[in-house]
Amino acid sequence: MEIEHVRSRFIKHFDGNTGYIYTSPGRINLIGEHTDYNGGFVFPGAIDKGMMAEIRPNGTNKVRAYSIDLKDYVEFGLNEEDAPRTSWARYIFGVCREMIKRGVEVKGFNTAFAGDVPLGAGMSSSAALESTYAYALNDLFGDNRLDKFTLAQVGQATEHNYCGVNCGIMDQFASIFGKKDHLICLDCRSLEYQYYPFKPEGYKLVLLDSVVKHELASSAYNKRRQSCESAVAAIQKHHPEVKLLRDANMEMLDEVAGEISAEDRMRAEYVIEEIQRVLDVCQALQDGDYETVGLKMYETHEGMSKLYEVSCEELDFLNECAHNHGVTGSRIMGGGFGGCTINLVKEERYESFVHETVASFREAFKRSPKVYDVVISDGARRLE
Ligand code: GLA
Repeated sequence: MEIEHVRSRFIKHFDGNTGYIYTSPGRINLIGEHTDYNGGFVFPGAIDKGMMAEIRPNGTNKVRAYSIDLKDYVEFGLNEEDAPRTSWARYIFGVCREMIKRGVEVKGFNTAFAGDVPLGAGMSSSAALESTYAYALNDLFGDNRLDKFTLAQVGQATEHNYCGVNCGIMDQFASIFGKKDHLICLDCRSLEYQYYPFKPEGYKLVLLDSVVKHELASSAYNKRRQSCESAVAAIQKHHPEVKLLRDANMEMLDEVAGEISAEDRMRAEYVIEEIQRVLDVCQALQDGDYETVGLKMYETHEGMSKLYEVSCEELDFLNECAHNHGVTGSRIMGGGFGGCTINLVKEERYESFVHETVASFREAFKRSPKVYDVVISDGARRLE
């Protein structure tokens, strides 16, 4: 996105002065879905699409915020009772509040922002927005006192406390910590992480967007999390050391089969298997073995579709197209219920795969899926 796009609107909308410009990206995730809030591993990377905001302290205690894409303006104060109703503004308000709770003396500011990360497509547009403001407010009002993990937690807490989504840490982590040409394997329990150079020779990563808008806030996401917690609670009675599904294994789960619902059991089975798959993929990447990486991606899709039940007809269709086309790996990416599949495809198959899949999707669903090439990019930063 062009700085000029944001700057010209900022100048036009406010008093003609310029401010500081910040940006933060959306993310992809190679593998490790719904593992973050279970203390497992994830494997995300930041992308070249995100949010950009211009900000200038205005000497008052009011935030004046303009959404360039929605052409919508909202003004709010910085106390808990000042929460705006408009949903996009609640993200900015939530970040302000969470920064204040962590000791940053946030004051009023003028801001305009825009994004090029598609909304509701599973690429974490909301984390990109939160991270942009968390990074900016730390820079403008906090002397960069808060470390990067705290900034990611500010975004996550915003989701929990102001947006009703009980999400894990993956999206905000990737948006803040992203690094060009690298994926990041994060242990969501210890918060240790490792950058993996990712430029698979002879392959491309492509996202196919089903254009089914996912609604994470719709209680389905939170319900999945509750299922995992119920399974842990049952296992804990026999194995007090188990605090998260990360600490459990299939034998433990089998042991409590009679004590939890069949649904909770399926959810937990998926998570336990998925945590192991991320570790298998780490190993495969170290060996340069992309066939195994791809195989694990298909297994994840199967698990997300049949056990975790966060797929939909369109996503299963895209996955099947990939499989029929001999694509190396393909799966639902992100929380599910819509959004994209992520596909690891050999360069020589790329053109025909995309072309044929778009055509058959259009025939089946009477609309076109969107296609996004993935460029792994840097995380949150100040541009000007
Ligand atoms: C959403 C959440 C993340 C994570 C994924 C699923 O993107 O925000 O914390 O749980 O779903 O892996």
